[in-house]
Amino acid sequence: MLSRRALLASLVPLPEDPLRPRFHFLPPANWMNDPNAPIFHNGEYHLYYQHNPKAAKWDTMHWGHASSPDLLHWKHLPIALAPTPGGPDKDGCFTGCMVIDNGKPTIIYTGVRPEVQCLATSTDMNTWQKHRRNPVVAAPPPGVDTPGFRDPHVWRDGSDWLMLVGAGFRGKGGTALLYQSKDLVEWTYLNPLLSGAINPNAKGGDVARGEMWECPDFFPVGNKWLFYVSTEDKVLYWLGDWKNRRFSPHSNGVLVYGAGYAPKSSNASGNRRIIWSWLREQRSQEDQLKAGWSGAMSLAVVPSLAKDGTLRLDPAAEYQQLRHREALTEDCCELHVTLKDNQPFGLTRGGTELVGYDPDSRILSAGRSEAPAPRGDLDLRIFIDGSVVEVFANRSVWLTGRVYGPISGLSMSAKAKKIESWALTPVSSNRLTS
Ligand code: FRU
Repeated sequence: MLSRRALLASLVPLPEDPLRPRFHFLPPANWMNDPNAPIFHNGEYHLYYQHNPKAAKWDTMHWGHASSPDLLHWKHLPIALAPTPGGPDKDGCFTGCMVIDNGKPTIIYTGVRPEVQCLATSTDMNTWQKHRRNPVVAAPPPGVDTPGFRDPHVWRDGSDWLMLVGAGFRGKGGTALLYQSKDLVEWTYLNPLLSGAINPNAKGGDVARGEMWECPDFFPVGNKWLFYVSTEDKVLYWLGDWKNRRFSPHSNGVLVYGAGYAPKSSNASGNRRIIWSWLREQRSQEDQLKAGWSGAMSLAVVPSLAKDGTLRLDPAAEYQQLRHREALTEDCCELHVTLKDNQPFGLTRGGTELVGYDPDSRILSAGRSEAPAPRGDLDLRIFIDGSVVEVFANRSVWLTGRVYGPISGLSMSAKAKKIESWALTPVSSNRLTS
């Protein structure tokens, strides 16, 4: 660990830190992980997030909060949820979601330890009153031996509320438990929505081995339903049918490769659904503490169904408003590359690879993150933003990576059919530090 003095001496002022993104969302300072309860309400986007306001490392979870009129420009707001001493969330306010119940914004989240489900309501989206009957779900269902019980996802189904809670069957595999309620306070357990198996080759704790599923999310896309969870260091999805409160998946895959984890969906203007994902750091904890910040939010991504019924993922159209001139810049730009299937591609910055495609292995890379390339000729939309790189390949593979090192000396090697690039306008003058 660094001494406090060494830490202070090594700090780069946050508004000048070239590794902090300029069109991706991130907290003013310190630690962020999962997006929480994102919602488009009364014409405004609200984004809450797992936050340690004291340091650039995970500890004592609070909910940070920001709002935006347009998905692009964000205003930081005061902390929305903090642990209540002696309360069921005394050791942290973990991930959750929001519903509007008869006009009343209501957060359903996990209090720890032990992991229990809690409610909070608000009239202004900023100050939250915790429910007097918290925790509203005090334990996992009887007979379910689970390594964890967290990250509620709630939605309306006819005159009922339904809820999924991330869990696992000990010794077997992760699951999402389905509950039903009339009033968000009394909950009845129904059954698991879907369950997985432990990965016998994986090492580590319950989540790393697939024994515990975190952050379930479930919503319609076209005439199908999309379900995803975070586990085994990955985000796994299933696409299928939802009938008579049973989910029958017919295809599955990885929702976001690389740095992305714990994504959460939201309604959005224009009758869209969008997905936000936490982009984890890919540098040492010491470097994160030195930097004074950790974690960034992905772009808002719009899921839809392709003609053949497969999942399509596109960055929200709003980001096109940031294009201000044709140029390839080191730290704040968008690139559109069309490649023949057998053409390699490489983009480096200061000698470090930002994005690569190797036609022999058919591996796409963004920093140290990798994804299998989709079949056929490649259409890549690449976003570079300080240390953040996001790649959308053929509108179906979403790959995210973090690249550090010097922000200078961009070099591209490509025999592409077509390359277009745009410098993007930063959404804040001080890298969202205020
Ligand atoms: C996922 C997660 C959630 C939990 C939160 C705690 O990254 O582990 O399961 O609610 O982070 O910060």
